[in-house]
Amino acid sequence: TGQFTDKLRVPEALTFDDVLLRPKESRVEPDEADVSTRVSRNVEVNVPILSAAMDTVTESQMAIAMARQGGLGVLHRNLDVEEAVAEVERVKRADELVIRDVVTADPDQTVREVDAMMDREGVSGAPVTDDEGEVLGIISGTDIRPYLEVGDRDEVREAMTDEVVTASEEVTAREALELMYEHKIERVPIVDENDRLTGLVTMQGILQRREYGNAARDEGGHLRVGVAVGPFETDRAVAVDEAGADVLFIDCAHAHNLNVIDGAREIRESVEADVVVGNVGTREAAEDVVDFADGIKVGIGPGSICTTRVVSGAGMPQITAVAEVADVAAEQDVPVIADGGIRYSGDAIKAIAAGADAVMLGSYFAGTDEAPGRVITVDGKKYKQYRGMGSVGAMQSGDGDRYLKDEPEEDEEYVPEGVEAAEPYKGSLESELHQLVGGMQSGMGYVGAATIPEFKERSEFVRVSSAGQTEGHPHDVMITDEAPNYSPSE
Ligand code: XMP
Repeated sequence: TGQFTDKLRVPEALTFDDVLLRPKESRVEPDEADVSTRVSRNVEVNVPILSAAMDTVTESQMAIAMARQGGLGVLHRNLDVEEAVAEVERVKRADELVIRDVVTADPDQTVREVDAMMDREGVSGAPVTDDEGEVLGIISGTDIRPYLEVGDRDEVREAMTDEVVTASEEVTAREALELMYEHKIERVPIVDENDRLTGLVTMQGILQRREYGNAARDEGGHLRVGVAVGPFETDRAVAVDEAGADVLFIDCAHAHNLNVIDGAREIRESVEADVVVGNVGTREAAEDVVDFADGIKVGIGPGSICTTRVVSGAGMPQITAVAEVADVAAEQDVPVIADGGIRYSGDAIKAIAAGADAVMLGSYFAGTDEAPGRVITVDGKKYKQYRGMGSVGAMQSGDGDRYLKDEPEEDEEYVPEGVEAAEPYKGSLESELHQLVGGMQSGMGYVGAATIPEFKERSEFVRVSSAGQTEGHPHDVMITDEAPNYSPSE
């Protein structure tokens, strides 16, 4: 023995393919397994899945779709602060019960003008207000149509319905709907105590909200959204917090850097939103952040586009990393998110068995319609771009401080920790999520756990040899039809 040979007595660290869930006695039907969870101390979601804060994965369109399906999108930070704020607002305004930027008509406008305006704005009706904002009436396609044939220069005040049913700010979706049924109308202006317009509730809006009954919403009924911020970006953190972000994610490849922890602490003290700190991958790192973090995100190099482990020689296989962090976090009741390396639904549920409360995926979603970027065709096959946030391309359009590097003068001076790639085009997010959640529920069924907390308690692992791993994939056959949740090339 000696200083260095001792170092070779290394502990083992495992990842997804090294383990399987031990099947157990069960009365749980997979469809009934409840997958709701927490992503941070105060933020609950109905589906334990987050989309990665990457510029080829999550902008507002993805975040809206994720929240509507019950999960959480985390907006990337390769945007300037104003644009990040606008993105948060876009998510918060989607599916809003009360529409705020209401298209209004003026009583002196002509019917023809209002018709053109409604066309332009894509609305089918508009409250008519005076200069003070007081609601005088409401005009819709039905009011206008008879005039368009004969008197399209008539004034709106002639054509409008002047008996308007309004409601106050306190109105609930159910009350608004009752008003609409009772009066056979499709929109109810919201007014203050002086009858001034403050918003609008529409039938279409209410029905749309109903369609997403499983959506992840805040107390006010708005879709939830996460936002990535750099560890030293207190300004960005405060701005997106004020815009209504539910959870901020300290976005760093090595959050056990003590300067990063200082920065994260400062951000934690400056905002109302929950702050998830990451990424970490060891027990010691978890111990250093657990006292102030509202959630801890785990993943040092497991990602599909990551080269951190080969470039730096550092990393932690993901199952062991999650388990080490979860041991510490569970003591303080802090949620853990497993970030990166998930290729199949089975990997996602294994991460939860290892102690995570939710999982974050990048490549799995990068090929969907809702991810930024366009579909490209190579040799007749469709793809979408997917790149690491530590790739040269992503660092050029943002900055490299996720990897704690200063911006170099020349492009060739970048030391990237990620690659630029393409993902097969996959269609809508909804069907991808359906497969992912359905597979995770199957895992819960095999273990006999009806909820995520119960699954974390009850699940056990067995170790898989490489022969066992081969046995687990389709083998000795030629696959003739592609399954929606299995691709042999992955
Ligand atoms: P998956 O496997 O789901 O991983 O595609 C997504 C996660 O990978 C991390 N990430 C990176 N890691 N270099 C890295 O080492 C990179 O360039 C990079 N970009 C993203 C990130 O945690 C993401 O959620």
